[in-house]
Amino acid sequence: MARAEFQTLPGTRDLLEPESGRVRALVERFAIEAERAGFGLIVPPMFEDVGVFVRIGEASDIVSKELYDFEDKGGRDIALRPEFTASVCRAFAETRPLIPWKTWYSGPSFRYDKPQKGRYRQFEQVGAEVIGSDDPDLDTELIALAWRFFQRLGLTDVVLLLNTLGDFAERPVYLEALSAYLAANADRLSDQARITMAVNPLRVLDSKRPQDAEVVADAPLMVDYLSDDAAAAFDRVRQGLRALGVPFEEAPRLVRGLDYYTRTTFEFVAAGLDAAQTAIGGGGRYDGLVEALGGPPEPGVGFALGVDRTLLACDEQGVFEPVDRPVDVWVVATTAGTEGLQLVEELRSAGIAADRSYDGRSMKAQMKAANRSQAPIAVIVGEDELAAGTVSVRTLRGEGRQAPVERSQVVARVEEMVRSSPS
Ligand code: HAM
Repeated sequence: MARAEFQTLPGTRDLLEPESGRVRALVERFAIEAERAGFGLIVPPMFEDVGVFVRIGEASDIVSKELYDFEDKGGRDIALRPEFTASVCRAFAETRPLIPWKTWYSGPSFRYDKPQKGRYRQFEQVGAEVIGSDDPDLDTELIALAWRFFQRLGLTDVVLLLNTLGDFAERPVYLEALSAYLAANADRLSDQARITMAVNPLRVLDSKRPQDAEVVADAPLMVDYLSDDAAAAFDRVRQGLRALGVPFEEAPRLVRGLDYYTRTTFEFVAAGLDAAQTAIGGGGRYDGLVEALGGPPEPGVGFALGVDRTLLACDEQGVFEPVDRPVDVWVVATTAGTEGLQLVEELRSAGIAADRSYDGRSMKAQMKAANRSQAPIAVIVGEDELAAGTVSVRTLRGEGRQAPVERSQVVARVEEMVRSSPS
């Protein structure tokens, strides 16, 4: 096949059926879980003033390296969203809904990441956020919601990693201890880790380089620097998860890629995905973000799941497979008139999925198309049927039975067949 003049850009893809239908089905499942838990949908704009996203943390890669930012024709500095949380907080600060405000979302996010399997420049997320309460039971409920969602998809091979980053108030004391430790061991760290250390020492804990592992293993941990309040909140989350039967692993070195987190942080990792892309979701508390965006000092907590990666994990585990969804009826019309046009319209108006061939193809070609479509029923009208005021209704699965039906009765007959078929 000749190469098309234009191709999708690196890190972007066309989602076509059945994969596109699978994405939609996944989002619908998430919507059911979220709405059942009292979350309302938010559809924020895909681009915002770049300042909204800069508040995510200037030291994070997501802001410093991966932002799709540009000046629009009106001279505004804007960026495509790299995630939803900052937009949700901006929306809260702008519209001041009643608290606690529980909202869920789905849609694409954009990061100028290094494209590879499971890592795209445009990727889909679903997520949920609660603003206006620091009750740790909310952290637990959100984690349980995501957990239940994965379980219902059939993803059993998911591990929940749990950590706490304490409050901003106690963070400087911890960071000082961590920085001092890293500085004392700098000669054993990789060059990259030494650079990271200067910008954000926390992120050194996240280094995947074997050279850094030994130093990181003995580094001071945030859990040992928590205030009494933050420690009690973490206990409450662990107690809640145990009470709900949600298994978790404590991961005291878990660092998330965004700088706004306080207290609870978590990640869901799927076994079987390539090492760099194992995180299928993550989240945590961000008790200072709304205020940083010019809103009231309301706490927040939430998570986002990567739809593309979740589906890759489903592929690995052979669950939630893509399904073909054929139409109910294929209309085969070889008359010169408008019979085919009218029949599909009547069927569709009655809520029956119907399709047909075009371009005046032969009966044989249209029957072939009908079979290829995998529709269970064909409605056939040729010159003979037209003269007799009937259509032929044929089942396309099994032995293929065919019977004439009065033209006026065709919708009712097909409806009856569709309702009684085991779909
Ligand atoms: P995040 O960990 O940056 O968190 O992204 C959440 C999920 O999105 C990841 O676990 C991953 O599955 C998926 N993801 C991220 N980047 C890519 C990519 N380049 N290609 C494919 N999938 C990707 C957040 O976005 C936070 N807003 C989560 C949150 C909500 N925290 C509090 N509330």
